[in-house]
Amino acid sequence: MDLSKSFELLDRAKRILPAQTHTFSRGYYSMVEGVYPVFADRAKGSKIYDVDGNEYIDYVAALGPIILGYSDDAVNAAIREQIDSGSIFSLPHRLEVEAAELLCQVIPGSDMAKFTKTGSDSVTAAVRASRAITGRDNVAYWGGGGVWHDWFTVITSRNRGVPKSLAGMIKLFEYNKIESLKELLDNDKEIGTVCMEPMTFEFPSNGFLEDVVRVTHDHDALLVFDEVQTGFRWSMGGAQQYFGVTPDITAWGKAIANGMPLGAISGKAEFMRVFDEVYYSTSFAGEALSLAAFQATIAELQGRKALERIHAQGEKFRDGFKKAAAETGSPISIEGFPAKLRMIFPYKGEEDSLLLRSLFSQETIRNGVLFWQGPLFHTASHDDADLEKTLGAVEKGMRTAKSAADDDTVEKSLDGKPMRRVMHFPV
Ligand SMILES: Cc1ncc(COP(=O)(O)O)c(C=O)c1O
Repeated sequence: MDLSKSFELLDRAKRILPAQTHTFSRGYYSMVEGVYPVFADRAKGSKIYDVDGNEYIDYVAALGPIILGYSDDAVNAAIREQIDSGSIFSLPHRLEVEAAELLCQVIPGSDMAKFTKTGSDSVTAAVRASRAITGRDNVAYWGGGGVWHDWFTVITSRNRGVPKSLAGMIKLFEYNKIESLKELLDNDKEIGTVCMEPMTFEFPSNGFLEDVVRVTHDHDALLVFDEVQTGFRWSMGGAQQYFGVTPDITAWGKAIANGMPLGAISGKAEFMRVFDEVYYSTSFAGEALSLAAFQATIAELQGRKALERIHAQGEKFRDGFKKAAAETGSPISIEGFPAKLRMIFPYKGEEDSLLLRSLFSQETIRNGVLFWQGPLFHTASHDDADLEKTLGAVEKGMRTAKSAADDDTVEKSLDGKPMRRVMHFPV
């Protein structure tokens, strides 16, 4: 596999770009350095092409924003139509109203909506609104992380430059353990916000999310759901619709506009009206190309019954993966929701080893499949031919990883440097 153009560009990036990219999770250090392509050239449907022209079946979905498939024709047409009449204006654009109406039609329990530019903005603004309403600053949090504003970043290992005084304001509780949330709320009367992802990889146990709503409200706090990853994936109305629970305020992002930079906050009118006063206001929040892309994304998700297809492909992948693991005797396992799965690599006492994952991924990338250290996303463009090729690569990866693990040659078998983590939390 020729990667020479990728490596040339990386040399240039090292001179001009801190961290060599604008998103740590895309950096060469997050992949298998020396083995993985570094720079993309283009992408279409389920495929991504690197700058050397190599083609891969992509399960990264640009870190989650792609749901229909890359460069979707219908979404492209909507953006093209809008671009001829402008992207940002001196007055609010009509699409700000029309797109907010559409979002509230799609999300049961949301009466008002406000657009943002990123998932981090959405969660941060939702928490700010909740703090304004309750008058209490502290936050009870559960989730996989990934909100890149100070209130959250302070509890991660990448917290340099963040005021240390914020650290005491965020307290972690445990998923599927309602007692751990109750204990936090009983003991810290300054907690006014419970902020959580409704699900990451473990399914909520019977009644857990309902209990979260009840316990939060019993303590006069507000419930903020971070649906940046689950939104438009679990169901059109997110995980809250899928599990039948309604938070007070929700943060959206990632897949909302199939790759255009858009996020949103939505919720009950009594809470959303606080944004009449609370500051979330930025030059590009109402940018019209992304709003047009959002409308087209929703129409296409509905019209193509895309989520049914994504869930079905994810299930087929999960079943095929488990079959391959059983046949090869591999300890690598898979868990999660069909639209967002996670592979787990137990090795030498580590629950999930990046070293073993790197060796597996060295094999799969060389067989034309792009995985990363994050979750595995199917899109509406992944078809059975992709599935067959991917499962073939997975099986080879499992065999390679197993025999190297058995012979204790995992490190030696790696032709590059193992993947490195971007951050961890709590610090
Ligand atoms: C659950 C969750 N919330 C929020 C964010 C932040 O979104 P963004 O990277 O668009 O700012 C992420 C990013 O990965 C995320 O995974």
